[in-house]
Amino acid sequence: MGFLHLLYATFAFINGSLAHSLNGADISSLPLLESQGISYSDGGITKPFEIILAEHGFNLARIRIWTAGPYTQSYALALAKRAQTAGMKILVDLHYSDTWADPGHQAIPAYWPTDLSGLNTQIYTYTRDLASAFSSQGTPIDYIQVGNEINDGLLWPIGQISVNGFQGASELLHSAISAVRKASPATKTVVHIANGWDASDVNFFFSGIFIPGALSENDVDIFGFSFYPFYGTGATLSALSSSLKGVISTYDKDILVAETDWPFSCSSSVALSEPSIPLSAAGQQTWVRDIEDVLAGLSNGHGLGIVYWEPGWIGNAALGSSCSDALLVNSSGSTRSSINLF
Ligand SMILES: *[C@@H]1O[C@H](CO)[C@@H](O)[C@H](O)[C@H]1NC(C)=O
Repeated sequence: MGFLHLLYATFAFINGSLAHSLNGADISSLPLLESQGISYSDGGITKPFEIILAEHGFNLARIRIWTAGPYTQSYALALAKRAQTAGMKILVDLHYSDTWADPGHQAIPAYWPTDLSGLNTQIYTYTRDLASAFSSQGTPIDYIQVGNEINDGLLWPIGQISVNGFQGASELLHSAISAVRKASPATKTVVHIANGWDASDVNFFFSGIFIPGALSENDVDIFGFSFYPFYGTGATLSALSSSLKGVISTYDKDILVAETDWPFSCSSSVALSEPSIPLSAAGQQTWVRDIEDVLAGLSNGHGLGIVYWEPGWIGNAALGSSCSDALLVNSSGSTRSSINLF
């Protein structure tokens, strides 16, 4: 026991910065896929996918919630129970929309108000009741994203930065975070934007979003970023590193790479940002380890972790990507060697 303990302690010391990091997977689609008959196996043994992930070192489940189906609050509550049983922490990703929210889409839910005052009240009560529901069922939310890829704000057009400036978006985020602080004070709050490698986008957003009387820097615990290699060749690891170093030097916040993936296969017409990394399971591991290196290089231990986006979405492997397949399983649901990302 002494020897093993020493060995473990040595290992933990060598990997000091990694020992506490978040190794995430966005598994939002999992119950939906299972309802369609899809299952997963690891080394020839069929198991629930979240168990496979946990057995391979994943310790965080990212779960998106829409204001309409299929990703409803009750769907997410059930998935959170499974993630907790598997030993994972929970990152809830609120889209504040009836459908996908991203830098080009932030539609107000059909049954929500369409003025700023009404929306401030609505986002507060919705977020408060949702956070309370997770606590009540015994799966308090560890991390919560208020909005998804909100580079141009949320709840358009009221909270759309390019239309109405930062005031609306800043108030709405403050209302949402006030609800989290009230209902679930231990939950860490995350503001998430796309293109974390793009220092100019990142600086534009964070230099505008904090407004006295609305969103304050203290409201936000973590800055979250998407970082994908197939939407532009500027998304290099060195660009990510300098962008994140810049934002940390100004705001001193923890950083989560809240969405990323690397293709197993991709059309040759897509120009990847790091063309030396192969399109393979080995390449998927290289990409994530390179991002880990970027995070480990940030000051004050601010590199919190990485979330791999939807590693098991069989039948929809090209969604959210310019490439055909970035999954960590093959089309039969068998794990690829890249299941050992972390
Ligand atoms: C998936 O991998 C398993 C295990 O290696 C293999 O038996 C199966 O044929 C593969 N399925 C496909 C569609 O490649």
